[in-house]
Amino acid sequence: MDTITRLAALIAECMKSRWPEAEGLPSAEELRGLLAVPPDPALGDYAFPCFRLAKSLRMAPPKIAEELCAAWTQESTASVRPVNGYMNFFLNRANFAAETMAALLAAGDRYGASDLGAGKTICLDYSSINIAKRFHIGHLSTTMIGHSLKRIYDFLGYTTVGINHLGDWGTQFGKMICAYKKWGSREDVEARGIDAMTELYVRFHKEAEENPALEDEGRAWFKKIEDGDPEAMEIFTWFKDVTLRDAAKVYDTLGVTFDSYAGESFYIDKMEPVIQELRDKGLLVQSQGAWVVDLEEDHMPPCLIIKSDGATIYATRDLAAAIYRQNTYHFDKCLYVVAYQQDLHFRQIFRVLEKMGYPWAKDCVHVAFGMISFEGEALSTRKGNVVHLEDLLDQAVVKAREIIEEKSPNLENKDEVARQVGIGAVVYTDLSANRIKDIDFRWDRALNFDGESGPYVQYTHARCCSVLRKAGSLADVTPDWSALTDDEAQALLRLLSRFPEVIREAAEKYEPSMITRAVTDIAQAFNKYYYEHRILDGEPAGAAARVALTDAARSVIRTGLYLIGIEAPERM
Ligand code: ARG
Repeated sequence: MDTITRLAALIAECMKSRWPEAEGLPSAEELRGLLAVPPDPALGDYAFPCFRLAKSLRMAPPKIAEELCAAWTQESTASVRPVNGYMNFFLNRANFAAETMAALLAAGDRYGASDLGAGKTICLDYSSINIAKRFHIGHLSTTMIGHSLKRIYDFLGYTTVGINHLGDWGTQFGKMICAYKKWGSREDVEARGIDAMTELYVRFHKEAEENPALEDEGRAWFKKIEDGDPEAMEIFTWFKDVTLRDAAKVYDTLGVTFDSYAGESFYIDKMEPVIQELRDKGLLVQSQGAWVVDLEEDHMPPCLIIKSDGATIYATRDLAAAIYRQNTYHFDKCLYVVAYQQDLHFRQIFRVLEKMGYPWAKDCVHVAFGMISFEGEALSTRKGNVVHLEDLLDQAVVKAREIIEEKSPNLENKDEVARQVGIGAVVYTDLSANRIKDIDFRWDRALNFDGESGPYVQYTHARCCSVLRKAGSLADVTPDWSALTDDEAQALLRLLSRFPEVIREAAEKYEPSMITRAVTDIAQAFNKYYYEHRILDGEPAGAAARVALTDAARSVIRTGLYLIGIEAPERM
């Protein structure tokens, strides 16, 4: 139990013993939310505003604070003082240090892990790239938020299913095959991959402007894919392989994995039963030749299911996919990590599922995120300024290599560290703000070793490791936790003690950035501690306590970085 939760429970107890008859008093849980950190540390470590009790007790807050303080018996946890209607707490620093360190030592590298999610399954739909299109920097967020959430849920004991819902269905693939047959070559596509495919697609559109008959040919090729024509299928499958081969390079670099690549084409034969079900349930209505589910009473445009030409669409496949996932994985939650532009799409899908009578529709969540721009410029495919993720990552590694060369010319495995730091800088930036916020990626910020950045946190981790390497035999000395009662140690301990809670909150809010924030705060607190105190000096029991604190900081930073998909080098 972390300190705040403990204090809240103790206040609840104190309140009950002082006013056993009173009604409408806040629960321990509510008290927990009311506890605040005073702006001036001289006022205490925590403060409880007694205003919330005034009505139930029919008493003025300052009086309540006084009576509560008088009734307080938990001096070993904290001493208290009433100030202007607040009950102020001064933690017993030595006890707090001893308890927090005991919890950290007992859990080791699993500190913050739990079995909260035992027996529960979470499906995560992330990255979900489109075939024959290149990964651009805009794909970074879905990939990394999804990957991070998967690690977070795994750490909390959930069973997770990572799904790359490939965009591998649509008339554009007929056009691409048509273009390939006319102007393409196997060697070229093999050698240049997605670039070659993109050129074919662009050329198709250019030529089709002059020669509209091409469109019919493209449609005919798509029909062949639909009918399973061997030649069409062979080319289509091969396009897919080439795309995934390229993507695999990026996934490898980022350390991202999936449990399933069931994309849109996987659901082709699973849509008919869904359409039938919609029809049976009286949900399908005809509108201008198309079949839709009316959502007027939900103040949404109708959800298109079958176009007037008989073709199904993205939404139809998403309905089939959701039902398939529930039937296959029996998920407790199905998360869709997709840009917020698709907000309406998901609201429609979830509402249709609800109308179909699926109670689990409420367990489907669109985990939306904002846009990413690059050095102040929006990324738009139409304007052509697309920053390819692969190039960005390569550049990050090169730049990190230069900085490392300058800062640590004697480092042994510079290439490996440059890779970890360069990638870490990019991923950290992506996961540094609330996911719904737009992000502007800037090199100077991402690679600033002294600012709030991936390299800064990684560097702090390496610094901890370096201290520990020098600690030698101190590891065997029994620590005296009362050496950790100074302001800096306490600030660090407080952050460390809150970490398990941060992980749970990040999971609850689908917000990896909360972990990014926490590791950054911990890194800053550690550095402050490091500058103010001589960790290895003085008598051994005190030094052993400081070493243990350093090791705890190291471990928690490492775990935090892991949870947001960043590696933690031991030397930098
Ligand atoms: N491939 C889609 C796109 O890039 C994202 C798919 C998201 N997942 C889903 N089940 N719709 O726009």
